[in-house]
Amino acid sequence: MTNPHSDALVFFGATGDLAYKKIFPALQAMLKRGHLNVPVVGVAKAGWTLEQLKARAHDSLEKHGGVDPAAFEKLANLLRYVDGDYQAPETFKALRRELKDAHNPAHYLAIPPVLFETVVEQLAKSNCSNGARVIVEKPFGHDLATAQELNKVLLSVFDEADIFRIDHYLGKRPVNNLLAFRFANTFVEAFWNRNYIESVQITMAEDFGVQGRGGFYDQTGTIRDVIQNHLFQVMSNLTMEPPVGFDSESVRDEKVKVLKSIPALEAKNVVRGQFRGYLDENGVAKDSQTETFAALKLEVNSWRWKGVPFYLRAGKCLPTTCTEIVAKFHKPPSLIPDSVLTENHLRMRISPDVTIAMGMMSLAPAAEGISLQAGEMVATHSPGADEMDAYERVLGAAMEADRSLFAREDYVEEAWRIVEPLLRKNSPIYPYVPNTWGPSEVERVTPPGGWQDPVVKHGLSPVATQAA
Ligand code: BG6
Repeated sequence: MTNPHSDALVFFGATGDLAYKKIFPALQAMLKRGHLNVPVVGVAKAGWTLEQLKARAHDSLEKHGGVDPAAFEKLANLLRYVDGDYQAPETFKALRRELKDAHNPAHYLAIPPVLFETVVEQLAKSNCSNGARVIVEKPFGHDLATAQELNKVLLSVFDEADIFRIDHYLGKRPVNNLLAFRFANTFVEAFWNRNYIESVQITMAEDFGVQGRGGFYDQTGTIRDVIQNHLFQVMSNLTMEPPVGFDSESVRDEKVKVLKSIPALEAKNVVRGQFRGYLDENGVAKDSQTETFAALKLEVNSWRWKGVPFYLRAGKCLPTTCTEIVAKFHKPPSLIPDSVLTENHLRMRISPDVTIAMGMMSLAPAAEGISLQAGEMVATHSPGADEMDAYERVLGAAMEADRSLFAREDYVEEAWRIVEPLLRKNSPIYPYVPNTWGPSEVERVTPPGGWQDPVVKHGLSPVATQAA
């Protein structure tokens, strides 16, 4: 059964890392905007009291964005705490009591996926799942089989309409702005297809390492951590057909269709790297073969995109932190010598700034003869501190039952199908020096004209000038 608005938020893993870094700041932000006025029940097995949880929330806010005294007071008043083992029925009886007369709670499982089955079963047995919805974090499984298993567990108790799978990239406004740019501007449709676009590259670069998450990361790697989910969502927004409406199912139907048109990856189209020093991280196996960098080439065999290669790369310890898309156009017929032409491009940056830039050629003003220069027409915006964070947006959307910001079961399984052969094959792993753009072997998986490395400086890329 689908419910209108949750009348309580329960979060399992209340004393954990995700709650500390993301959930408390999101809750405070929701309170500041007046978007939260229902009880918030933390659940964990830590032997804590409610006062300790409040202190933890305060500490989390001090470290992540700052404490707003008025909003924190409201948060402290809404907070409840249930301490207990997830295996024990008493924990869930206590939760049911704490929920009082709430009939439509949202249960957020901010806990390791191995515990999902236990918690979901206990929610059902204790009557906490009636009229409720469940929110789960990525990664949804470890591969296709475990994702299917996980979906089976969730669907044994909840309807698909009541399952909210968080991929926080869907909570990023600039990621959804890709849809607005495509579908709110008539001129984009004219060139956004294989007739005009030669290749598309998407880079998600991070200039930091695994930040103390070695244990998690070593079991995960770049492909599972950010490519199969975050970058696939970006790619889906770029490649899907116009939906018949902007309701969640129409949008999600189109996203699934686009994934269905992508063949499973072949090892020859993937390069995996590992930054030097990774093996010394806490929680990382000394002989780890886990990638901290990956570059891959995909085909999207839809009517619109057949023949246009899509290149995706992501990595830790790269020279900058930036997520950016560059689509290169075919060159015009050669009235002007090819050697002096740079391809037109469309550059869309998702973070740190939000930019849409058109790369084009023009006559160099001061030169004589046919002397051309490449430049960009740029629209850019730096997000302000008052803009909604992705977690705030997805939590609010889950409580309002807005499904459009969440991954549907069939989408998740298609995404695993595409990367699956790679996860099984254990392709070679190449070392790279931190603060570089990955291993030199990445040459093998490089877009025509090369990777365009993002330059994070006032949102502008350097302007190249070429003379005939
Ligand atoms: C998370 C990954 O999902 O996304 C991290 O687990 C990654 O490894 C993070 O750093 C990036 O998110 P954002 O919002 O900082 O771009």
